[in-house]
Amino acid sequence: MKDFKDKVAVVTGAGSGIGRSLAVELAARGAHLALSDVDDEGLRETVRRCAPLGVRVRGYRLDVADRVAVLAHAAQVGADFGRADLVVNNAGVTLLASVADMAWEDLEWVMNVDFWGVVHGTRAFLPMLTAARGHLVNVSSMLGLAGAPMQSGYNAAKFAVRGFTEALAQELRADRVPVGVSCVHPGRIRTNIMRNARNDGLRDYRTVREQFDRTVTVTPEHAARVILRGVARNRQRILVGADAYRLDVLTRLLGPAYPRVTAGRGR
Ligand SMILES: NC(=O)c1ccc[n+]([C@@H]2O[C@H](COP(=O)([O-])OP(=O)(O)OC[C@H]3O[C@@H](n4cnc5c(N)ncnc54)[C@H](O)[C@@H]3O)[C@@H](O)[C@H]2O)c1
Repeated sequence: MKDFKDKVAVVTGAGSGIGRSLAVELAARGAHLALSDVDDEGLRETVRRCAPLGVRVRGYRLDVADRVAVLAHAAQVGADFGRADLVVNNAGVTLLASVADMAWEDLEWVMNVDFWGVVHGTRAFLPMLTAARGHLVNVSSMLGLAGAPMQSGYNAAKFAVRGFTEALAQELRADRVPVGVSCVHPGRIRTNIMRNARNDGLRDYRTVREQFDRTVTVTPEHAARVILRGVARNRQRILVGADAYRLDVLTRLLGPAYPRVTAGRGR
C-alpha cells in the first residue's frame, strides 16, 4: 500500500494515544475511517478531529474482547464503507503486577483485550482485506520482544500477538494471499496507557506512572507516522522509538542473557 488516499482504514482503540494519532494522520492523507473504541467520549473527540479533513469518518462503540461484537463490526463496516483496505488492531491495555500477586481476572483482562482483541480483528477482517488486496497491522510492543518484571501478563499477550502475526504472514505468503502484514513493536510512547493500567495494589504504581509521564518523550503522532511509513514499505516488523531498537539489538546480541542488562528497567 503505497499511499492511503481514498483507502478505507479500520482502527481499533482510536479514542486515545496511538490509535487517535493514526486516525488523524490517515485522515490527513485522504483515507476514509472506521474508528472504534470502548471509550465513547474519546472516540467522539477523535471523530471530531478527523471530520474536518474532508474524509468519511464513522465512530463505532466496540469492545475488541467481544468476539461476536467484532464479527458484527466487520459486517457493519462492510455495509457502511463497502471495503476495508487497512486494518489496525491497536486497542490495548496494560497490567503492572507480579506473577505471584496478580488477580486472575486482571490477567484474563489483558489477554482478552491485547491478544484475543487482535485475533478477533484479524479473523473478522481478513476476507475483506483479501478482497481489497489490503494490509493488516497488529500492534504488539517492545515487550513482545523481551520479558520485563511486573509485566508478565502484558508480555504474554504481546509475545502472543507477535507469534500469531508472524505465523499468519507466512501462511498468507505461502498461499499467495495478497495481504500485507505488519507487526508493530513500539517502545515507550507518551499516551494514556499507564494511566489506564491495572496495577493490583502495586506499592510504587504512582511513582511508576509519574515517571512514565515525566520521562517518555516519543509522541503518538511520531508513532503514527513511523507505522504508516512501515506499512507503505510493506515492513513485516515495525519498531518505534530508540528504546525498541535498543531492546531488539540486545535480545539478538545477548540471546537469553539479555535480562542481565534490562532487568528492572523501564516498562
Ligand atoms: N504507550 C506505550 O508506551 C506503548 C508501548 C508499546 C505498545 N503500546 C500499544 O499501543 C496500543 C495503543 O495504546 P496507547 O499507548 O495508544 O494507549 P491509550 O491508553 O492511550 O489508548 C488505548 C485505547 O484502547 C482503548 N481500549 C482499551 N480497551 C479496549 C477494548 N476492550 N476494546 C476497544 N478499545 C479498547 C482505550 O479506551 C484507549 O482509547 C496498545 O496495543 C498498546 O499495548 C503502547
